[in-house]
Amino acid sequence: DWTMKAFRAEAIERIRAQVGSEKVICGLSGGVDSSVAAVLLHEAIGDQLTCVFVDHGLLRAGEAEQVVTLFRDAYNIPLVHVQAQETFLEELSGISDPEQKRKIIGRLFIDVFEAEAKKIGGASFLAQGTLYPDVIESVSFTGGPSVTIKSHHNVGGLPERMNMKLVEPLRELFKDEVRDLGRELGLPDKFVGRHPFPGPGLAIRCPGDITAEKLGILRKADLIYLEEIRRAGLYDEIWQAFAVLLPVRTVGVMGDARTYDYVCALRAVTSVDGMTADFYPFDMKFIGRVATRIINEVNGINRVVYDITSKPPGTIEWE
Ligand code: XMP
Repeated sequence: DWTMKAFRAEAIERIRAQVGSEKVICGLSGGVDSSVAAVLLHEAIGDQLTCVFVDHGLLRAGEAEQVVTLFRDAYNIPLVHVQAQETFLEELSGISDPEQKRKIIGRLFIDVFEAEAKKIGGASFLAQGTLYPDVIESVSFTGGPSVTIKSHHNVGGLPERMNMKLVEPLRELFKDEVRDLGRELGLPDKFVGRHPFPGPGLAIRCPGDITAEKLGILRKADLIYLEEIRRAGLYDEIWQAFAVLLPVRTVGVMGDARTYDYVCALRAVTSVDGMTADFYPFDMKFIGRVATRIINEVNGINRVVYDITSKPPGTIEWE
């Protein structure tokens, strides 16, 4: 694609002009955006770049292994894998407010990046895979007054006191363009086609307070849901699909015993850029099959509902 070829060359020049001979830390989330940003940066500045992947304990099943494998083995890009699960979960303990969760996560990410920067003798820049819609939605409603909808961790959720300057080479791009750029850079199709996954991870898919137990339950349900979506050949038709664990327990019956367990909500949407979205019209038989599997296989969930809200007025994530 000639547009992306040109973009690639220009972006590389811009990155070099911005960072000079300084060191750059790139926060990798495992998603497409930060991965594309990392590969682009590596091409631009080589070993001035250190990629940092933070396991905040809010990742999906198997996610950390996948990211580490891709970067170290397939790309040979050096990657620091930080195990920060305990810190994140401790700081988030008892926090239910969505914006507060995002702010805490943003601050902890920066703490980790700054600590890693120190280890390499200081870095002047922090690189992120911020996209155009992230910029817009963290700032205001389009055309409206300045109202924050959500502090995306990779924009508005950053603390004011950060020492590093930002490098955001994808700031002008939409998701489909980032995917084109990823292909242009030779990232595997399977990776480029991945559904978006938010920086705050499962924290914003667990309304109410977050515990290791709830995260474990959510991970299992999410894995089953995505496995069934892939098996049905629907993954690429859907922009994003995930499970949400609601902080509500309801009464059920299993065999001849009473159960009192959590509700799991399933979400799947179609979209072009994440700014607007429609709920995905699954065949009811499919949803029924997923619900049965989740209830049978996941301890702690006894009821499954499907979210049929579009964006607007809903948002894609629940928080
Ligand atoms: P919402 O929920 O705002 O989501 O309709 C739009 C898209 O953005 C993703 N999202 C995030 N991505 N950091 C990210 O990197 C964040 O803090 C964040 N919050 C939401 C969301 O998954 C969806 O694809």
